[in-house]
Amino acid sequence: MPENLSAAAAGTWKLGDFTINRLGFGAMRTTPNPDRAVAIRVLRRAVELGVNHIDTAAFYASPGGTMGVGEGPVRYANELIREALSPYPADLVITTKVGPGSAAERGFYQATTAAELREQVELNLRQLGKDALDVVNLRIIKKPGEDSIAERFGALADLVDAGLIRHLGLSNIRLDHLDEAQPIAPVVCVQNSYALDTHREDDTFLPICGERGVAYVPFFAIAGPSREGTATTDHSDAVRRIAAAKDASEQQIRLAWTLHQGPHVLAIPGTGNPEHLEENVAAGAIELSAEELAALS
Ligand SMILES: NC(=O)c1ccc[n+]([C@@H]2O[C@H](COP(=O)([O-])OP(=O)(O)OC[C@H]3O[C@@H](n4cnc5c(N)ncnc54)[C@H](OP(=O)(O)O)[C@@H]3O)[C@@H](O)[C@H]2O)c1
Repeated sequence: MPENLSAAAAGTWKLGDFTINRLGFGAMRTTPNPDRAVAIRVLRRAVELGVNHIDTAAFYASPGGTMGVGEGPVRYANELIREALSPYPADLVITTKVGPGSAAERGFYQATTAAELREQVELNLRQLGKDALDVVNLRIIKKPGEDSIAERFGALADLVDAGLIRHLGLSNIRLDHLDEAQPIAPVVCVQNSYALDTHREDDTFLPICGERGVAYVPFFAIAGPSREGTATTDHSDAVRRIAAAKDASEQQIRLAWTLHQGPHVLAIPGTGNPEHLEENVAAGAIELSAEELAALS
């Protein structure tokens, strides 16, 4: 691992009025390990390495979560973040998402009303121990013809006006959703599933976000087609060859590829493993030539 390992190597982006390092961290993978000390260590080390953008959700919980089928007390990502990092460093931006929710009395559900969205925002505030959330993504389920976001996004815009949220983003969306949201309130980021080998239909949407000054934040950059499963092992010859030539791992090359898709592309690799964390931060310093990018794409 390089001695000067730093999340700053991939440069910065302005998310609303926050300046963050493009190489961030996804907290979804902090909850599976029953040893919460490991998650705390990973989160603290991430910040020590310069990570100042963490993605989370109130429903990121240990297996079983609030449905009560996991082992031992539920570990919520938000509470791990709070335990590891509060009082929070002044430059730390925590992005959360609402829409999907999980509650003991109703299981996993989708918020559809302003009241439900407010409840989810307030739950994030309580779990994180904050007075206002830095960035909140409205995470939707796409149902063509019946997935207008105007009402839900408008409800979140009201919570910006009420001082509970600083900036808004959108997740799991198409261009028409962004078009619908932008006249209602500023959108600082779009968080979609996108990787070398997944959802390449966003190849045209990604640059449009950049033209509009909106960050594009891919998730599953490492997991790829395995989605919520573990990192994909189904690598192309080009990924394997370039990884070997650079003495890097295939996962690092996948991450570096996403960061090369535009200065507005932010990485939020998720891990509960301290070694993987360091590898992911190191990936921010990997440079890929035009030939290498063409071979990878
Ligand atoms: N908006 C949405 O709908 C949505 C959906 C899913 C996720 N997200 C967010 O996006 C973040 C990223 O997605 P993700 O965490 O699911 O997937 P990811 O970052 O693409 O990959 C995570 C998987 O890869 C493994 N991994 C990570 N770094 C590795 C490395 N250097 N070498 C080998 N394996 C490595 C992890 O296992 P280890 O823990 O063992 O390292 C985990 O199994 C999440 O953490 C979450 O914050 C958002």
